[in-house]
Amino acid sequence: MISFRNHKKTNISFDPGLTIIWGENGSGKTSILEAIHSLSFGKSFRTNNKRDLIKKGDEGFYLKGDFKSKNNAKNTVSLSQDIKGNKKITINQKTIKKRKELFGLNNVVVFSPEEEEITKGSPSIRRNYFDKMFSICSSIYLEKLLSYNKIIKQRNTLLKTEKNTKKKEKELDIWDEPLSNCGMGLWLHREKLMKQFIGFFIKVVQRFDKNLLLDINYNLKIRKKEEHINAIKNSRLEDIKKGYTSFGPHRDDVLFRWDKKKIKNHGSQGEHKLFLALLKISEHLFISKKTEKTPIFLIDDMFANLDKERSKKLLRFVETFKNKNKEKSQTIITTTNIINIKENGLFSEYKNIKKYHLVENGTA
Ligand SMILES: Nc1ncnc2c1ncn2[C@@H]1O[C@H](COP(=O)(O)OP(=O)(O)OP(=O)(O)O)[C@@H](O)[C@H]1O
Ligand SMILES: [Mg+2]
Repeated sequence: MISFRNHKKTNISFDPGLTIIWGENGSGKTSILEAIHSLSFGKSFRTNNKRDLIKKGDEGFYLKGDFKSKNNAKNTVSLSQDIKGNKKITINQKTIKKRKELFGLNNVVVFSPEEEEITKGSPSIRRNYFDKMFSICSSIYLEKLLSYNKIIKQRNTLLKTEKNTKKKEKELDIWDEPLSNCGMGLWLHREKLMKQFIGFFIKVVQRFDKNLLLDINYNLKIRKKEEHINAIKNSRLEDIKKGYTSFGPHRDDVLFRWDKKKIKNHGSQGEHKLFLALLKISEHLFISKKTEKTPIFLIDDMFANLDKERSKKLLRFVETFKNKNKEKSQTIITTTNIINIKENGLFSEYKNIKKYHLVENGTA
């Protein structure tokens, strides 16, 4: 990592099993996970603006990661951006045009306080969460999503900008068919993957604690193209008034419930965190199964918002997961309190534990 967040120049190697990064608030722990995520996904999980990532006062950042999979396949990914906005992503020294070419190559699952918005925030955050996961697992899903979003963008531009009412109506007529074709295709694919994901989630919750009653609810209201076309036609007046397309898969919500009640409105901090943890474990299993590659588990600030007993139970639970070859997945954990881990005798399942103490300015 060069000139990335508070890191001037940091070079870290990670244990194939467990690496613990510890240090004070602001020492640069989350930034390290952010760098790994950026190399995996071409994007941070904390900001959409890459300029935020450039170390204050510097001209640009540079990240490079060497990834090695279990069958010894290696790949090197680099990502850089300067203050003028010039960006570059390479895979094995070859520049790629779009960041989607990275998807699925080196998967990661992030469990961090930033992700808490998934259970607490608006429907769009949950939608993006599942869209990202499903896109990593299926390039077909990604293509469907991109085509659909393109149509929505074009239709919304038409809704907003065309002043001539007759012309607008005529052009909207033309959009109905492709919109419902793409929309219905995306919906049915999303439903299929969601069902599979929910299956993983229910098993994970059961295994963690039989007495917990958590569920995820996703229901398609329509499943036929004709019904979709009718619905688009019915909401046309409203769309024209609002200036955007108000009906379709881009408006979906996924319901998360704890004891049959919406966690968004009822959950305590600890319940939110536990729900998210179980969601993330399910995500890890789902991506492993779908891509046949075990993602790297990035766990940020593990102990925040969880009591000691729950933290212990959760970490022990994470420890029990092994991949197809009965190996533990690579896990990188950050914490401000290394003593916690020692005292509780955690991570006995790992052969080696690598520890990094971050001092200042990101030096490990
Ligand atoms: N672009 C930037 N340039 C310089 N410093 C930055 C930049 N962006 C963030 N920082 C600073 O980098 C430091 C490290 O942030 P980071 O979130 O990685 O810390 P952390 O170790 O995870 O802390 P915490 O324990 O509080 O979560 C912070 O002090 C933050 O203010
Ligand atoms: Mg942090």
